[in-house]
Amino acid sequence: MKYVIGNWKSNQNLTESLIWVDGIDAIKPHFSPDVSVILCLPFTDIAGFNHKLSDLKIPILTGAQNVSHLPPGKHTGEITANMLGELVNYCLVGHSERRRDFNETSQMVAEKAGFLLGNSITPIICLDLPYLDEQIKELFQQNIDVSRCIFVYEPIAAIGTGHPIDPIDANHVANQISFLIDNAAPILYGGSVSADNVKSFVDQSRIDGVLVGADSLEPTLFAGIINCLAEK
Ligand code: 13P
Repeated sequence: MKYVIGNWKSNQNLTESLIWVDGIDAIKPHFSPDVSVILCLPFTDIAGFNHKLSDLKIPILTGAQNVSHLPPGKHTGEITANMLGELVNYCLVGHSERRRDFNETSQMVAEKAGFLLGNSITPIICLDLPYLDEQIKELFQQNIDVSRCIFVYEPIAAIGTGHPIDPIDANHVANQISFLIDNAAPILYGGSVSADNVKSFVDQSRIDGVLVGADSLEPTLFAGIINCLAEK
């Protein structure tokens, strides 16, 4: 199975997200049974977006971009894995932007993964070299079943720059991650992925797909990436 996962970050209100669905519906990309297409949305978009996808029978799955590291209770403003369980099948955790802007630690990321798995949501765990070993060690320490997760190598220098890293280097790190998790889960690459370069990544031996930021916001660009994978 190959994966195309979009991450809208803090973009698109509900109205804009529904216009995006109309855009995809008009383009009709090639949805292959061998390619899982997932879009990670702002919390506020998810319910309405799911509804519209189902009305138009568009085979895109949805994910959240974050979840609380705390259980349900007196934590004003937090969105728990239990709340997300009714809405999504996937959730990003440990994105470098959250580590940078919200001081998220490897311990919190592992706690989030635990709550997600407990609510049948697949954690999509983002990694970069400075904390890759520490993060994976923490997952094992907290008894997280890594075979039920998806991992993404996202080198921070390649995010939002238009300059992805060399696919051979990305594959090297994917192999490193694979070794640490005993080859148990899919491993993706993220960082300035576009329709022009996506094939060079998924052609690598240990890269199972891509996590796409900017080019997931525009239906034409995202459909281009989906088509590249479907035609492989
Ligand atoms: P860009 O594709 O915009 O570089 O973003 C990558 C990313 O951070 C996805 O999570």
